[in-house]
Amino acid sequence: MRILGIETSCDETAAAVVDGDGSVLSNVISSQVPIHARYGGVVPELASRNHLMSMIPVIQQALDDAETTLDGIDRVAVTRGPGLIGALMVGVQAAKSIARTRNLPLVPVHHTEAHITAVLLRGGDLAAAPPELPYIALAVSGGHSSIYHVLGVGRYRRMGTTLDDAAGEAFDKVARLLGLSYPGGVSIQNLGRHGDRTRFVLPRGMRRKGNLDFSFSGLKTATRILLESLGALDDVTRADLAASFQEAVVDSLVTKTLAAASRVGVKDIVVAGGVAANERLREHFTEACDAAELRLHLTAMPYCTDNAAMIAGLARFLEPVDSALLDGLEPFASGELGEAVLADGEAS
Ligand code: KG4
Ligand code: ZN
Repeated sequence: MRILGIETSCDETAAAVVDGDGSVLSNVISSQVPIHARYGGVVPELASRNHLMSMIPVIQQALDDAETTLDGIDRVAVTRGPGLIGALMVGVQAAKSIARTRNLPLVPVHHTEAHITAVLLRGGDLAAAPPELPYIALAVSGGHSSIYHVLGVGRYRRMGTTLDDAAGEAFDKVARLLGLSYPGGVSIQNLGRHGDRTRFVLPRGMRRKGNLDFSFSGLKTATRILLESLGALDDVTRADLAASFQEAVVDSLVTKTLAAASRVGVKDIVVAGGVAANERLREHFTEACDAAELRLHLTAMPYCTDNAAMIAGLARFLEPVDSALLDGLEPFASGELGEAVLADGEAS
């Protein structure tokens, strides 16, 4: 089985072809970063327009790279949400058109679910053993910071989530305070690479033992106040500030994810989403999981930030939408994945 995946939830127009065993045959991403960078963030209307222009060439490129045509495709998968509604609409309409005209089954996919199952993709440099169920997954992106107890595909218990900003959003906002370019995560990582991460002690939110929720807005404010109190910054101080901010985010993410694993007694940890590309996060998780004798599954770098291979890969395990309901299939802007669980493990 060959699946064509389409992803347009934010500012990447992406298409990919994935085989039935999870092998990635092609993975094409047309980034709109240069278009949005001068505004310091994604402008939804510009994102929709650019998806419209890029969608067909990107799909064509994904088919070409996989050395196939639509004749060789057995199902279509598309991100249905959450994301920017106008941006999602472009991908969903493209997928519906292909499914309708080629008489192919269509699988709508939850974006966060695709992030936390991207570790199941195979082939190429993806040689590592897949995680054993159940596992703990941390999904950290521009829109989400959540910890899931993954019992199986489609069976997610949400153990913690962000109460305000997502981790990636905090990176992006603090980068803007520091006058760095969008997207902020990579800019802060690069600036902080040789900085002293211990120089400034910034707050770690929601530290009460047993609480697995995140909060990054206090950290963002503390960084802003510190920045204002420091006045004009020299290059060393800027790098130390970036490294110290990054450390505070990473520390919260690692500590709470390991606490979740310990609470439910699982040994496998998956780290996914755009922020999972962060090199300090990867290093800290590796050290902490080694020390705690946990098996760590870091999403491979090409599949951390938004891509369509993860959308097609997840669609292997899901049921297509009934063809009678295809015309009514609409994208959704928000919607958490899975059932929330309270601190004592009871469903809310
Ligand atoms: O998963 P993603 O591509 O899109 C969403 O679903 O939101 O994540 C994008 C987020 C942005 O906030 C970006 O700043 C962050 O991921 N990001 C990083 C890094 N690369 C991307 N954050 C920290 N370090 C990175 N290396
Ligand atoms: Zn994403």
